[in-house]
Amino acid sequence: MHRPDVPKTLKGVILAGGLGTRLRPLTKVTNKHLLPVYDKPMIYYPLETLCSAGIVEIMIVTGGNSAGEFLRLLGNGAEFGLRDIYYTYQEGEGGIADALRLCEHFAEGASIVVVLGDNIIQENIAPYVAKFREQGAGARILLKEVADARRFGVPAFDGDRIVKIEEKPEHPKSPYAVTGVYMYDARVFDYIRTLSPSARGELEITDVNNRYLADGELRYDIMKGWWSDAGTFESLLRANDLVARERARRGEQE
Ligand code: G1P
Repeated sequence: MHRPDVPKTLKGVILAGGLGTRLRPLTKVTNKHLLPVYDKPMIYYPLETLCSAGIVEIMIVTGGNSAGEFLRLLGNGAEFGLRDIYYTYQEGEGGIADALRLCEHFAEGASIVVVLGDNIIQENIAPYVAKFREQGAGARILLKEVADARRFGVPAFDGDRIVKIEEKPEHPKSPYAVTGVYMYDARVFDYIRTLSPSARGELEITDVNNRYLADGELRYDIMKGWWSDAGTFESLLRANDLVARERARRGEQE
């Protein structure tokens, strides 16, 4: 397959679809990514993560309940300093890779930085994105050590090298989670076309990452700051707490 160069301009994608079943009844009438995390709607956090990495064109993939509310909330993206914001709609719950599939025309052959809509990240990811630009092609993921790796995609290592990523393993081979920040060259859409649904009936992003790994094209960094998803009651509470503490810490510094 053609090995594309990573262009200077990267486009951003936020995946905010799904039915948020693990948060019912909070998500019975509204979309998970519109729920509050401390003082902002959840989707503001991945949006700010991409903006602070210098990305000015973003596609929001939504789905499920209250999809139209994203337009009301985010408008044309000017408030966030975006040049353009686009919206699309994922039918059903086909998984993260299925949602990403909808972004092929938006990407127009460019490389993309994908952030899951329920991922709350403390640090500016710009240095990692810069490394992705430097690597030229392939994929780059961000890892973070966690207490409960069984809930996530988990890398198995041979020394410093990832040999496999396992999705929600019963017995994790490392204490690291694959966070929901993924950087891909244009091949990602061809790889998604080769996937079949997993046992939970979804096209898994872990299978995409393993495909890049098989080609020797997956690099990684370990995040320094805190990170949390917000898709379960425990992690949503934790994300709220982490953001509240961060605000207090910053307030003290000012
Ligand atoms: C998804 C991915 C998983 C990743 C996690 C990060 O899990 O499948 O590999 O570690 O996001 O938030 P899900 O939220 O679909 O359970």
